[in-house]
Amino acid sequence: MSVRILILAAGQGTRMRSRLPKVMHHLAGKPLLGWVLDAAEALQAAQTFVVHGHGAEQVRAAFSERQVSWVLQAEQRGTGHAVQQVMPQLEDEGQVLVLYGDVPLIQPTTLQRLLESSRDRVGLLTVELADPSGYGRIVRDDAGRVQRIVEHKDASAAERDLREINTGILCVPAQRLKKWLPQLRSNNAQSEYYLTDLIAMAVAEGIGVVTSQPDHPDEVAGVNTRAQLAELERYYQLQQARLLMDAGVSLADPARFDVRGRARIAADVSFDVNLVLEGEVEIETGVHIEANCLIRNSRIGAGAHILANTLVEDAIVGAGCSVGPFARLRPGTVLAEGAKIGNFVEIKKSHIGAGSKVNHLSYIGDAELGEKVNVGAGTITANYDGKHKHKTRIGDHASTGANSVMVAPVEIGAGAYIGAGSVITKEVPTGNLAVARGRQTNIPRDKQEQD
Ligand code: UD1
Ligand code: CA
Repeated sequence: MSVRILILAAGQGTRMRSRLPKVMHHLAGKPLLGWVLDAAEALQAAQTFVVHGHGAEQVRAAFSERQVSWVLQAEQRGTGHAVQQVMPQLEDEGQVLVLYGDVPLIQPTTLQRLLESSRDRVGLLTVELADPSGYGRIVRDDAGRVQRIVEHKDASAAERDLREINTGILCVPAQRLKKWLPQLRSNNAQSEYYLTDLIAMAVAEGIGVVTSQPDHPDEVAGVNTRAQLAELERYYQLQQARLLMDAGVSLADPARFDVRGRARIAADVSFDVNLVLEGEVEIETGVHIEANCLIRNSRIGAGAHILANTLVEDAIVGAGCSVGPFARLRPGTVLAEGAKIGNFVEIKKSHIGAGSKVNHLSYIGDAELGEKVNVGAGTITANYDGKHKHKTRIGDHASTGANSVMVAPVEIGAGAYIGAGSVITKEVPTGNLAVARGRQTNIPRDKQEQD
């Protein structure tokens, strides 16, 4: 049976107290709506509609590459009203699945179960909560059959004691939905068109209402406040941490580890506290990462050691490398096997050959270093002339003395040696020693000029 998905995302999210539309707030590095769209994509629905309103342009722009149909709900008059906006564009066949843009962790398997259990009936995703306040309650008859949903604000004291709540996620055959929606009325405590009133209509017509439950209640947790968002983030991160530990990754503290993206991590890897992995990250076996590091869109080769307080972005760290403490690898950095980058070193768009060392206080940008090069403390590549970037090439086994500057474009031959404090502006041939600095002059006191 074909499935069409409606994602309700028009609400402002007043309680977030934010200029950003609620569904644009991030969970694990991805906007809330992005999570729901991913779940929808996994179901391979015939069509996905997003009902949007608050911050419409911003929301559409953020997801412009997604295959969805945008439906504007200019004024938010309730969940039923939101669904009504889609009706002119909706086919008459198959099932319609309603999701919320602010319920990010819903799992495709749960949705699949809901769809399969209901078919031409109405399917409701419900959970039992210890504290159901605020939610719509599921009212059942003595035989346990669902009768209707009553919103918290409209519920009697007895109804408020019911602990089974409406998650808001439901599915309805398209034909029925089209028939029932125009019958919704807004004569309730919030003067809104409640989508939940469909349930009583289904029951009145003898259409069965079946319920199913998510694997875990946090799947259906909605985000209304920043505190709820933070709670959900911790839940998600802990879940990721557990999966990794099960797969052979050691975490000093699973509560101080964050994945914001897709991390592929091999077994026998260990992480000290406060590691953040962002985007696409790949970490090979035997890697150890010390405290307080951020790794973004990068690959860390087998057995590499990342020391404390290091930042790695869009870089490739080869097997057996050592990076940090306090190092910054910027986009385009490639470290070949066994390279060593030390403290307070910044590397950008450069290739550092196997076994080469840049140990202290250096900036290496737009450079090609051969194998076993030794870069002295405080060496700088002056790669930018104010208009263009230029390359520095340093051959195998070359060494630069402390505090030397390579004014690019420039080439240092293999085995060459640069004297400390040199400003190198011309090619240094293979094996040469280059000294380019003012000579030291010692002037005795009696020869020094007096003012
Ligand atoms: C709704 C349900 C309630 C359920 C709860 C679960 C109704 C009447 N009530 O209540 O039974 O327990 O969700 O969280 O359906 N939205 C629009 N346009 C609107 C109104 C809402 O797009 O005009 C969107 C919101 O952005 C949000 C979702 O629909 O993503 C739910 O709206 P919200 O106002 O939070 O519904 P609740 O009152 O919490
Ligand atoms: Ca809500």
